[in-house]
Amino acid sequence: MPEEKKPVIVYGGSFDPPHRGHAALAAAALRQLDPAFFYFVPGFRTPFKDFLPVPYGARAAMLGAAMEEEGFGGDARIRISPFEAQRRRVVYTWETLSHFRRLHPRSKIFFLMGSDCLEGFPRWRRPGLILRSARLLVGPRPGHEAVPGGVPFARLAGSFPEADSTGIRARLFLGGRPAQLRRSVLELLEKRSFYLSRERELLRELLSPRRYEHSLLTAELALELAGRAGVPQRQAALAALLHDCARDLPLPAQRRLCPKGVPLRGEVFREAPLLAHVWAGAELARKRFSVRDPEVLEAVRLHATGAPGMGALARLVYISDLANRGRSFPEARLVRRLALLDPEAAFRAANYVKLVYAFSAGGWVHPLSVALWNSLREEKKG
Ligand SMILES: [Fe+2]
Ligand SMILES: [Fe+2]
Repeated sequence: MPEEKKPVIVYGGSFDPPHRGHAALAAAALRQLDPAFFYFVPGFRTPFKDFLPVPYGARAAMLGAAMEEEGFGGDARIRISPFEAQRRRVVYTWETLSHFRRLHPRSKIFFLMGSDCLEGFPRWRRPGLILRSARLLVGPRPGHEAVPGGVPFARLAGSFPEADSTGIRARLFLGGRPAQLRRSVLELLEKRSFYLSRERELLRELLSPRRYEHSLLTAELALELAGRAGVPQRQAALAALLHDCARDLPLPAQRRLCPKGVPLRGEVFREAPLLAHVWAGAELARKRFSVRDPEVLEAVRLHATGAPGMGALARLVYISDLANRGRSFPEARLVRRLALLDPEAAFRAANYVKLVYAFSAGGWVHPLSVALWNSLREEKKG
């Protein structure tokens, strides 16, 4: 058969990170369709503002390494296309497929995806144009059998494992080594600390084992809640991991780190010296962890007192610090359950629980915590 009569397969996605779910779909499509070309097209950016993938170059390199390890190294049909990356913006699937349509005018183009993606297809940009440019080629995944009415597609034979990239990323941020990733991918990720391996290493040196565990559990809950809060996973993980980074330093060292502008600095040092770790932590995050993201620094600084007008990330860390599964008191369990249902209500409840705890202990309460309480009352009334 002349090469141009063979089909062309296009497989787009973020591939952050490339995993065995991707490889399984690609392998089946190659075997069943015997295409002239198979293009992986890693996106440059995604339309979702709460997802910031690792840089394109690294994802393309990991994809290449993963395919090599999967045994596709010598397969000249497989290409990693820089089409979307060259545009340096969000590129929609209809544009990508129009490009491959022009590149291979005489071939049948297939656009490969798992059935989990097919469910959302009618909401994609210009689905009609996509269907005119290419035929959808769908690998069935268990639990995703529903087919949107009127969407024609070709089905790959076989069943393909669940491929939850969000879950894989969450495990990586917590130091796990998910079995769905090839060794070469894990090595590349760790070398460049894309999933915070360097940060966790440094943190482990700064904290007692118990506090390190608490930081991981705080990050675990923050990652669980990040999607609904519209917060990128990396930001949630970084802020939650670092929130107590200065907590185990000797008090004089914490004080030295505290900037001049700590509100009620004198009272804090005298009445609630342990509270200094939040300002010291933000400073340490900047100096030792090279954090420049103001939202991450805000989340570290406000994780104990809170403050009126705090941003989504700071709220997320505030809740996760109190309600992670390492906290066994009943109120923490309640806030945790509430957080999964209604994050706003959980935030108010967390502020309430912290204040009740502080008042019942008879200690000095930082006015920022009270100001947060008052502002939340106003929000509720308004
Ligand atoms: Fe803390
Ligand atoms: Fe904490």
